[in-house]
Amino acid sequence: MLAGLSRQKDENVLVGFDTADDAGVYLLRPDCALVQTVDFFTPIVDDPFMFGAIAAANALSDVYAMGGRPLTALSIVAYPAQGDLEDLTEILRGGESKMREAGCAILGGHSVADEEIKFGYAVTGVVDPARVWTNTGARPGDALVLTKRIGTGVIATALKRGLASEEHVSASIGSMLTLNRLAAEAADGLTVHGCTDVSGFGLLGHAREMALASRATLAIETASVRFLDGAAGYARAGAVPGGLNNNREFVSGCVAVKGDLPEEIERLLYDPQTSGGLLLALPEADAAALLERCSSACRIGQVMAEGEKPLLLL
Ligand code: CO
Ligand code: CO
Ligand code: CO
Repeated sequence: MLAGLSRQKDENVLVGFDTADDAGVYLLRPDCALVQTVDFFTPIVDDPFMFGAIAAANALSDVYAMGGRPLTALSIVAYPAQGDLEDLTEILRGGESKMREAGCAILGGHSVADEEIKFGYAVTGVVDPARVWTNTGARPGDALVLTKRIGTGVIATALKRGLASEEHVSASIGSMLTLNRLAAEAADGLTVHGCTDVSGFGLLGHAREMALASRATLAIETASVRFLDGAAGYARAGAVPGGLNNNREFVSGCVAVKGDLPEEIERLLYDPQTSGGLLLALPEADAAALLERCSSACRIGQVMAEGEKPLLLL
């Protein structure tokens, strides 16, 4: 879709839309660049407060994924004209609570009447232009670190089908509510060659973007990837979101599989994540330091010289 647009020529655009990165970055002053992103979606949980908070954590994530610090947000609301206004207030309150936790000020927003509820934010942050975490810099020899478990899409689908246990759902919500701020702060001061957050295109979709943008192959040790409790069982039972199949169709041509990979694990690697973790490429010593500082982080593979396929599953 974006291929039809002309390339912009503005030397202050440090990261534009052409590298499929998490957020745009615009040089404001020699020591300060703006990070801008927007994200909104339809409800993924029943509780309106939780939905608002997850939407906020998800929108903030793209700023953290660029190494930035969020400053301000504008809300985006689509809500039925005859809808329950108390629920809408709860959605806004949930979002506000998460934005407050992030130290991000809500300046305003825009709402439209729409039969289908949608909610999210446009977020603006700042980053040191010399320390922008793009997805283009992963280097052979780097370790790959993932900071959250995978499986929010499969568990949400299992919930819709009445298959999911309360315990599994609440752990998934807890993961989606967790800001990527702590993970990003844990990597502060370390050498980060590449970073992206794992969201709608799933682990392999976002790994593919990093591999292509960095002209490298990402080798993922699938046995090291951590999944949310229950996710593998629901994936085996066929609780597969539509987006998972789309991701698989789009990305699997870029994937070489070495050895045995259980079908449910392969499915989960394509599972679209809401408010997923950060995927970082960094030198082994820095990765070790990150694992020490961030208890949820896990080493899931390494970057290799560009091979036959952008992604290799071991
Ligand atoms: Co992103
Ligand atoms: Co995004
Ligand atoms: Co990034």
